[in-house]
Amino acid sequence: MTSRKLYNVAVIGATGAVGGVFLQVAAERSFPIKSLKLLATERSAGKRVAFGEGEITVEATTPEAINGADFVFISATDEVSREYGLRARETGAIAIDDSAVWRQDPTVPLVVTEVNPDDVEDHRGILAIPNCSTTPVVMCLWPLHVRNPVTRVICDTYQSVSGTGTGAVRELEEQTRAWASGGSAPATVYPQQIAFNALPHIGSFKEGGYTSEELKMSAEARKIMHAPDLALSATCVRVPVFIGHSIAVHAEFERPWDPDEVRAILREAPGVVLQDDPASNAYPTPLDAAGKDPVYVGRVRQDMSHPNGVAMWISSDNLRKGAALDALQIAEEMVARGIV
Ligand code: A2P
Repeated sequence: MTSRKLYNVAVIGATGAVGGVFLQVAAERSFPIKSLKLLATERSAGKRVAFGEGEITVEATTPEAINGADFVFISATDEVSREYGLRARETGAIAIDDSAVWRQDPTVPLVVTEVNPDDVEDHRGILAIPNCSTTPVVMCLWPLHVRNPVTRVICDTYQSVSGTGTGAVRELEEQTRAWASGGSAPATVYPQQIAFNALPHIGSFKEGGYTSEELKMSAEARKIMHAPDLALSATCVRVPVFIGHSIAVHAEFERPWDPDEVRAILREAPGVVLQDDPASNAYPTPLDAAGKDPVYVGRVRQDMSHPNGVAMWISSDNLRKGAALDALQIAEEMVARGIV
C-alpha cells in the first residue's frame, strides 16, 4: 500500500468569508493535510474555529507562523497578499492568493483548473485565483472558444455582498432588519444603502469610467484563456444577495452557433451544470447556487442583436468556485502532478 503524501497548510484570513468556506471545502474534499495553521489578525488570536470534526485555535499572522508550510492560502487584504506571497516564496512554500495583487504579474499563473490547468507548471512560488465573477464566465466561454473562437464579450454582473467580506454581509442584514422595523441603518461598507438597492460600483473608478472590478474581468479573462485580443466589456453591479454572483453574458464568436449545440457543449463542460428549461422555470439563480460547487448556466439563446452572438445567464457561489474551491483545486492539481 502506498501512503498518501500529506502537507503542512496555513490559511491566512481563516476567520473571513472566504477563509471559512475554504475550511469547509478542504474538509469535504479530504485535502491531504498534515498540519493546519489558521491565521488572522491579532484580534482573532485565540478564537476556536471548527475544522472537520474538531476545532483549531486561530493564531496571529506573523512571518514565523508560516515557517514549514507547504501551502499558504491567502484571503485577507492586499497588503497581506503582497507581504505573505513574497514571504511564502522565500520560505519555499506555495502561496495561493485570492487578491488582485499578483494576478497580472507575468511570473504568477492565474488559474481556473477547468480552463488552464497546465499553467500551474510555470509557478515560481505564487499562484493566483481570479476574481469571483471572472471564473464562472471563463468556465462557460472556454469550451465554446476552443471550437469557435470568441471575439467579443459583454458581461453585466449581479454580485453578492459576501464578495466584499463579512462586514458587508452584516451591513445588508442590519439594513434589512432596520427597514423591516421601520427604521434605517447607515451605509458604512458601501457608499450607498445596499438593501433593496443595486450599486453599479464595485472597486474604484478608473480612467475611462470603468471600475477596477470591470477592468479586472477583462484582463483576467485574457490571461486565463491565453486570448490577448479578446474584447470584453463589463458593468459590475452589487446587489442585495448574500451569496452567489450572477452574470448576463453576451458573447460574439467567429462563426454563428446553433444554440442547441452550445447547450450540448455546456452540458458536458467540466464544473458546469446546464439548467435551461424556461418552460418549467428552470434557470440558474444565486440562491440555488449558494453552497454548491458547480457553475450553473442557462437562458442560452441566439443573441438577436448579432448573427454570431450567444446570450446566456450564469450563477455560481462566489465563495466556493469563485474563491475557496478554485484555490483548493489549484493545490490538488499541483499535488496530482507531483510538483509539490
Ligand atoms: P480578522 O477576522 O481577525 O479581522 P473578510 O473578507 O470576511 O472581511 O475577512 C478578512 C479576513 O482577513 C479575516 O480573517 C481577517 O481577520 C483577515 N485579515 C484582515 N487583515 C489582516 C491582517 N493585517 N493580517 C492577517 N489577517 C488579516
